[in-house]
Parts: sequence; C-alpha cells; structure tokens
Amino acid sequence: MANNKTGIWIIGGFGGVAATAAVGLAALAKHAMPTTGLVSELEPFRHLPFDAWGDFVVGGHEIRQSSLIDSAMQMVTESRAIPLELVENNRAQLDAWSSNFRPGILTHSGRAIESIATTGFPIVAKSARDAIDILSRDLVAFAAENQLKRIVVVNLASTEPPASAELSQMNWQQLSQCLDDPKFCLPPSTVYAIAAMESGHAYVNFTPSVGSNLDALRELAIVKKVCHVGRDGKTGETFLKSVLAPAFASRNLEIMSWVGHNIFGNRDGVVLDDPINKATKVKSKDSLLSQMLGYQPQTHTSIEYIQSLGDWKTAWDHIHFRGFLGTPMTMQFTWQGCDSILAAPLLLDLVRFASLAADKQVTGELSFLASFFKSPQGTTENSFGKQFQTLIDWANAFSE
Ligand SMILES: NC(=O)c1ccc[n+]([C@@H]2O[C@H](COP(=O)([O-])OP(=O)(O)OC[C@H]3O[C@@H](n4cnc5c(N)ncnc54)[C@H](O)[C@@H]3O)[C@@H](O)[C@H]2O)c1
Repeated sequence: MANNKTGIWIIGGFGGVAATAAVGLAALAKHAMPTTGLVSELEPFRHLPFDAWGDFVVGGHEIRQSSLIDSAMQMVTESRAIPLELVENNRAQLDAWSSNFRPGILTHSGRAIESIATTGFPIVAKSARDAIDILSRDLVAFAAENQLKRIVVVNLASTEPPASAELSQMNWQQLSQCLDDPKFCLPPSTVYAIAAMESGHAYVNFTPSVGSNLDALRELAIVKKVCHVGRDGKTGETFLKSVLAPAFASRNLEIMSWVGHNIFGNRDGVVLDDPINKATKVKSKDSLLSQMLGYQPQTHTSIEYIQSLGDWKTAWDHIHFRGFLGTPMTMQFTWQGCDSILAAPLLLDLVRFASLAADKQVTGELSFLASFFKSPQGTTENSFGKQFQTLIDWANAFSE
C-alpha cells in the first residue's frame, strides 16, 4: 500500500549539487530554513498542490563509494558553502537516505568519468539491456521499501562526452534492437533514462549529457505515458545571457561578440577539464544566443579548472555591441556564484513540478520548464522572460 511519499532517485547522488539538495531538503522538511532560491515557493506558484518538502525520500545510483554526509562535509570544509550545523542537524536523515543508494553504471562514460569512479564499485552489465534491467530492479526495490506513490529520476551525474550522431537518427524500434549487443555504445545518461521510462517514472536531466534528448526516447516516453525534461540546469552565466541578450535585441543594439570565461575547481570541473567532456558543456552554454538575437555573433566560451576555487565559480563576460551611428560599446560583468547553492534549489523545484505533471498524467517533454535549462527540450525558446511567462501560464491554467 503506497503512502503519500515521492521518491527522488538521483543519478550521481553523492555529487556536490545532490548533497546540497539533500541537506536543503532535510532542513526544509523541518521548516528549519528559509525558502530563498526556490522558484516553486514564489507567489505565482503558491496555489499549486506540490508535494510538501517533508514528503520526499531520496535514493540514487553512484559510481563512487561515498555517502551524502561525506559529500555534504566537502561542501562545508572544502567549498565553505554550507554551515556545519546544518549538516550535523540533519545527519540521521542523510544517513537514512544514503542507505537507499545502489552502484550505477560506468560503461561508455569516457576516461574522465572513469578516473573518478571507485574501482570495482559500479555494476558490470553484459549489455545495455542487462544494465537497464538491473537499474530498473533498483527502482522497483526503492519504491517498494519506501512505499512510494511515485519516483522522479534526476540525472546529476558528471557531464559525459558528446553522444554519437548515429544515435540521434534512430527511432525507438531501431535503438531497442541494439540494446542486447554488448558492443552498442549507449551513453549511461540514456541507459538510465530508458530504465526510468520503462519503469514508468518521470525523468529530469539537469546535465548537458544526452539523456532523453533523442527521438527514440521521445517515442518511448509517449508509449510509456511518462514525462521527461532537460537539459543542463541554467544557474549562472547562461541564466544572465538569457536575460541580457533579449534586452539588447529589444533596443535594436547589435551584439558583435560575446566572450565568456569561466573558472572553478569542484569535481564537475575535474571532469570538464577533459576536452571531450568540455565540448558537451561549451555547446550547451554557447548555442542559445543566435536563437534569441536572430543572427550569430562571434562567441567564445572557455571553462577552466582552477582547483583552489572549489565550488565557487567566477564567470567574466565581455559583450561588444554596436549602437546608433554604428558606434561600438562594451558591457562587462563578473559573476561569482557558488555552483551547488545555485543549482540545488532548482533541482528541488524541478522535482516538484515534474511530480505534479506526473500526477496529472502529463506525458512527453515538459517544455513549460524551459526557464530552468540552458538547452531546453521541447522548445527553441531561450529568452528567460518568455520562458518564465510560460511557466506562470502553465501554473495559471492548472486545475486540480
Ligand atoms: N552546479 C551547477 O551550477 C550546474 C549547472 C548545470 C548543470 N550542472 C551539472 O550537474 C551535474 C552535477 O554537478 P556537480 O557539481 O554535483 O558534479 P559532481 O562531480 O560533484 O557530481 C557528479 C556525481 O556524479 C557521479 N557520477 C558520474 N558518472 C556517473 C554514472 N554514470 N552513474 C552514477 N553516478 C555517476 C560522480 O561520481 C559524482 O558523484 C554535472 O553534470 C554538471 O555539469 C551543474
């Protein structure tokens, strides 16, 4: 007999964003923390029948042997982002959630992600189909042990190398026929997404990895009557890009070039330091300007790993633009944000919205959540203002 709890199954659940979200969720459940940073707590969404913060149970897949407490303590000591007291006060809850975690899959992750995995810890599967079956059994067990009414599967794993072009040309029948082939190269984010969808759960991809962003998986979602959304949480520099670029366009100011340099030093940065993984992220950060402006200015985006900065990211953006009489001008800004503190509340918001959509039996891509993503699925709209209005419109149209 299911109770009224919703499961949050986090892929990459011992990472920085996941641990920060878990600490925050435990504190929110006790009303021990203000709701600053949480979009779902804003006035336009107050009438929505969201899951209460105390109605969630956390579990997940990982490739490193660790715990939510260990990762949260890294956020305390190395990143200086969370007060020690907040972790200590929620130790029992974090330990209970850590016991729900299971080993994840590493196959076809690429060398950068392989280098951070705990040797012998990830599961060994004979094929993608075998992996999907093992991962699905973990989801079934999580739901049964915690008597869950629903699970939202969230991808918070390290950014994978770009997926092959061949994958994006396949329909579900073609892709599903390859799943038993041990040599078939399917990125883990897609393997997890298939496991979630085949098990009937909503899937949210907070990373730039391909996940469910394939025609084959769009088809699977419809067949399985599940909802999904992604990709790549819009937390800092790209959030500002999607606010500022439409403002320039509205004043008919021509952006000639936009350069963004990013430096940070957390585990995400270690993986993104590999040029293959970095290519996935740069594409996601760089591709939205032409849609918002209607032309392609010269762009350059760099991401560099600077260990001493930990979770604190600095982005310096240089925007060179032209005004009346062709006169060139410059805008520069410096963004200094704590990555996990910015991302964690958005992740909790996404789970709440996706859970609500699943409750209403909405299927397919949740394009109304575009304002949360750098590369939103199901829409080409990148202007933050328009995306946010779409979210408000969805909320206004919501009826129980
Ligand atoms: N922090 C932000 O502002 C932000 C914004 C947008 C997107 N993201 C993305 O969110 C993800 C998480 O960021 P983070 O800072 O927590 O990174 P992190 O490196 O701290 O955490 C990633 C976790 O994923 C695990 N992992 C890697 N491959 C896995 C697999 N195949 N299966 C299961 N677990 C796996 C790692 O062991 C690690 O614990 C990254 O992909 C990042 O690019 C973060």
